[in-house]
Amino acid sequence: MASIKSSIPSRRFDAVIVGAGGSGMRASLQLAEAGLNVAVLSKVFPTRSHTVAAQGGIGASLGNMSEDSWYWHMFDTIKGSDYLGDQDAIEFMCREAPKVVYELEHFGMPFDRNPDGTIYQRPFGGHTANFGEKPVQRACAAADRTGHAMLHTLYQRNVRAKTHFFVEWMAIDLVRDAEGDVVGVVALEMETGEVMVLEAKTTVFATGGAGRIWAASTNAFINTGDGMGMAARAGLPLEDMEFWQFHPTGVAGAGVLITEGVRGEGGILINSEGERFMERYAPTLKDLAPRDFVSRSMDQEIKEGRGCGPKKDHVLLDLRHIGADTIRKRLPSILEISHKFANVDATKEPIPVVPTIHYQMGGIPTNIHGQVVAPKNGGQEVVRGLYAIGECACVSVHGANRLGTNSLLDLLVFGRAAGNHIVASKLREQSHKSLPADGADLALSRLAHLEASTGSERVQDVANDIRKTMQHYCGVFRTQELLDQGSKEIMQLDERRKHASFKDKSKVFNTARVEALELDNLIETAKATIVSAAARKESRGAHAHRDFEKRDDEHWMKHTLWFSEGNRLDYKSVVMQPLTVETFKPKARTF
Ligand code: FUM
Repeated sequence: MASIKSSIPSRRFDAVIVGAGGSGMRASLQLAEAGLNVAVLSKVFPTRSHTVAAQGGIGASLGNMSEDSWYWHMFDTIKGSDYLGDQDAIEFMCREAPKVVYELEHFGMPFDRNPDGTIYQRPFGGHTANFGEKPVQRACAAADRTGHAMLHTLYQRNVRAKTHFFVEWMAIDLVRDAEGDVVGVVALEMETGEVMVLEAKTTVFATGGAGRIWAASTNAFINTGDGMGMAARAGLPLEDMEFWQFHPTGVAGAGVLITEGVRGEGGILINSEGERFMERYAPTLKDLAPRDFVSRSMDQEIKEGRGCGPKKDHVLLDLRHIGADTIRKRLPSILEISHKFANVDATKEPIPVVPTIHYQMGGIPTNIHGQVVAPKNGGQEVVRGLYAIGECACVSVHGANRLGTNSLLDLLVFGRAAGNHIVASKLREQSHKSLPADGADLALSRLAHLEASTGSERVQDVANDIRKTMQHYCGVFRTQELLDQGSKEIMQLDERRKHASFKDKSKVFNTARVEALELDNLIETAKATIVSAAARKESRGAHAHRDFEKRDDEHWMKHTLWFSEGNRLDYKSVVMQPLTVETFKPKARTF
């Protein structure tokens, strides 16, 4: 196999960030403004990263609408996580929240405004005042295009700070040296097919989630779990991958997101009998209970025959009573989406909705600085030179179920924290570690395998079968039989993947090469998810197990770690000790 030096070109940076969504660009901004030489790689133009699809808001206890506190936010996040979130990281995130929102405001983010000029905040699921007493307005919103506004703001600041963007470049694999330190990535320019090593003193994964391992998903097509795939192939674990959030309101049949902000603005869910059924399941928070709760309630209504439409396979989201003026002002994209994807005028008709895969709570394990950590010598050790932030990371602030608006918050808080930590490590004064001669071999051998493969499987067929399998065997409600069978089928798909090839080698577009490389990432995340889910014998947060309906703190208050090599599992403790306050002890979750 060729060595890096003789075979492929390389470029050197202080830091390379893989992914140009909210967390990647928040981190790169911190680094570029500190004078570091930063490269950001992105499969798409930065402002088209999946953060652009986030609609409803950023959670922060500004208290602009009524009294609020970071401590209530912390409580809601821990209870929302079904007590699996690490309480030190959650305290850090909730305390930092107002600061990162005001910073964004000062960067020029066009938030909606109250008449007194302060940032407008709307209610969102699971966010309460006074430890669950009543809903609170905590989501800082830019209409229903908050992620879009945020990405544009961060991109403009990065351009000003002279961040180098590698647009339409895909990272293929990490480069690690003999000590296991990360010294860069091998990447592919999607237009030309050129392969290059991007040498870095620090590499940051900000690659987003893997929502495209499911057939019905609110996620962009680029969300193929690239960071998780690269980490898994490099021998690193993936944490808590059994916990996947179904967003209650995806457009039925299309999967496109209808923001929880609709219910924040007063929208309600109704069944075929016209009943506002959430009043039965969550008497206090009703339609604004956390997402795992609302999705299960909707699924239950449908299973008990109270679904709507000819197939009785969805429920309705009714916002007519909010009034056309408020809908146009606060929810303009929802009007457009419901018209385009459900053919309804949301000012006059309810929108057909169904729980749809939206977010992975798990990911690459990190500490609160964003440094990747992995088991070593009986403990957890930092992987030198590697950080992970945003949805591809598991810090873990979302535990078994994330609260809406805490994702944009997570991107800002941990993007900034990683940036600060890297700046404090005085990278500019350090020199690059030498590249190992065999450092690109994994990436190059994967590319060579693709070109040489004569297997009969088509990449798209295997990818679609992964999606169908995950959708069927790993849904809102799970059973042991389904999970065990699903695990077997995903392992069979892994075998089929090894034989995937291009149909006609004389006419291969680089987009097909990219899809083939993405397939390797899809399968790693699918295996991690279903194997971790099959092992967890309890119900907690988004993992609703029909054969083990109760949360089992005695045996399962622990994080799962899945390793690709040997398809094996390990576990680690949940951090129950916050930074400065008392532990929130696990209680039954009622809303
Ligand atoms: O419903 C939404 O607007 C999604 C927000 C989120 O996932 O945090």
